[in-house]
Amino acid sequence: MADQKHDLVVIGAGPGGYIAAIRAAQLGLDVACIEKEKALGGTCLRVGCIPSKAMLEASELYYEAKNSFASFGVKVPAVQLDLPRMLKRKDGIVKSLTQGVKHLFKKNKVTHYAGHGTISGKNTVVVENAGSRTELEAKNIIIATGSNVASLRGVEMDNDRIGGSTEALVYPEVPEHMVVIGAGYIGLELGSVWSRLGARVTVLEYLERILPGMDTEIAEEAQKIFTRQGLEFRLGSRVTGARVDGKKVTVEIEGVEPVKCDRVLVSVGRVPNTERLGLDSVGIELEKGGKIPVNEHFETVTPGIFAIGDVIRGPMLAHKAEEEGVACVEQLVNGYGHVNYGAIPGVVYTNPEVASVGKTEDELKEANVRYRKGTFPFAANGRARALGHTEGRVKILAHEETDRILGVHIIGPRAGDLIAEAVCAIEFGASSEDIARTSHAHPTLAEVMKEAALAVDGRTLNM
Ligand code: NAI
Repeated sequence: MADQKHDLVVIGAGPGGYIAAIRAAQLGLDVACIEKEKALGGTCLRVGCIPSKAMLEASELYYEAKNSFASFGVKVPAVQLDLPRMLKRKDGIVKSLTQGVKHLFKKNKVTHYAGHGTISGKNTVVVENAGSRTELEAKNIIIATGSNVASLRGVEMDNDRIGGSTEALVYPEVPEHMVVIGAGYIGLELGSVWSRLGARVTVLEYLERILPGMDTEIAEEAQKIFTRQGLEFRLGSRVTGARVDGKKVTVEIEGVEPVKCDRVLVSVGRVPNTERLGLDSVGIELEKGGKIPVNEHFETVTPGIFAIGDVIRGPMLAHKAEEEGVACVEQLVNGYGHVNYGAIPGVVYTNPEVASVGKTEDELKEANVRYRKGTFPFAANGRARALGHTEGRVKILAHEETDRILGVHIIGPRAGDLIAEAVCAIEFGASSEDIARTSHAHPTLAEVMKEAALAVDGRTLNM
């Protein structure tokens, strides 16, 4: 006999799982959420999105104080880095947000079980915690166990000198030379942090470009800007091994001399976390890449067992997991719920930020879709000039005949916030003309979006 019974048991309290749990509770279900880590909030809140943004913000302020304040007419005595304070601030932000999830659970009457959850049958989940064992009976189960850092063959991660993003958020000192393997989201964000704080950063990327999947033109511009900031890119570099020798690391690269450095960040992607989940016990087999196959209702081959977020197909993004959590629960309770995968933004929080939604120009060309393109640079925007951040541009791609917006790609100040307008436009099936005829407050960065929309029709006003 089960120790406890619930309508829904969610395994994992990351952005996918905790949001699904709260939404289900709002809809009247008796919900439980199991989490194996001490703090709630998943990779995103504990060791991912949030702490990295705290470090990006802090390192940016340090960099600006050192390098640009004087140009604003602000004189400061020699700027000094207080890394322990910076790390402590980050930890404080993480603590307050993870505790916030705990409060949200309480407020919404979601029962939290601390421990590792394993599915033991179609309607049962066992929670193990330091030797104790609780069996839960559930009408429905949602797997929201997220992902782990992908390892690289030959690279022996000691989770100190050679580590992933978790380790790169807590280096106790600024490395003299840091090697980043992989020029994706994590590599560029955390490489930027330590470069701003004074490290020499070398980024080794297997492909002949950075940010695969992002619009090529925008990625090329990003590479130029980051190179000017001091990041050294070595494209076409296949890392074949890395080993620690005392305080130094030797990184081996195919066909060229090895590189010696102090710390290595392995950021070559993430893999779904399905460890000890008990999937065999309910007949769930993983697809290629280790993901859990689900249908359009997020249901696995086993009725009543669902999966969302990083463990299923699609981009590994917190906000994608959240949308899936809500849609999955709404489908379960109300019979309908939907995620528009064509309108999921992606943001790289470098400086400038890179943000994107919808189709890239490369994808449109490949699919033989006829489109018009409008671009506008931040350098021609008054607010960007006042901010002292004039690099980058907005690029809008609209269908040649219907003018419907197909994709928007931004590199520039606050691109991650500006992309929201584009996401909304795509969600509502807007045309570039719609954005061009919408009043945008002056002077704001958002005006670049309007000008790029005007540019689709060849009628920019400020250039
Ligand atoms: P990624 O998939 O973004 O980039 C990995 C990079 O590593 C690729 O450019 C790939 O070509 C390269 N690579 C693969 N094998 C290599 C090798 N042997 N040698 C050199 N380069 C190699 O993965 P990343 O940055 O680790 O991020 C993981 C996931 O986390 C992504 O799916 C991303 O969406 C998500 N994430 C999102 C963030 C955001 O929304 N701002 C921030 C951090 C992570």
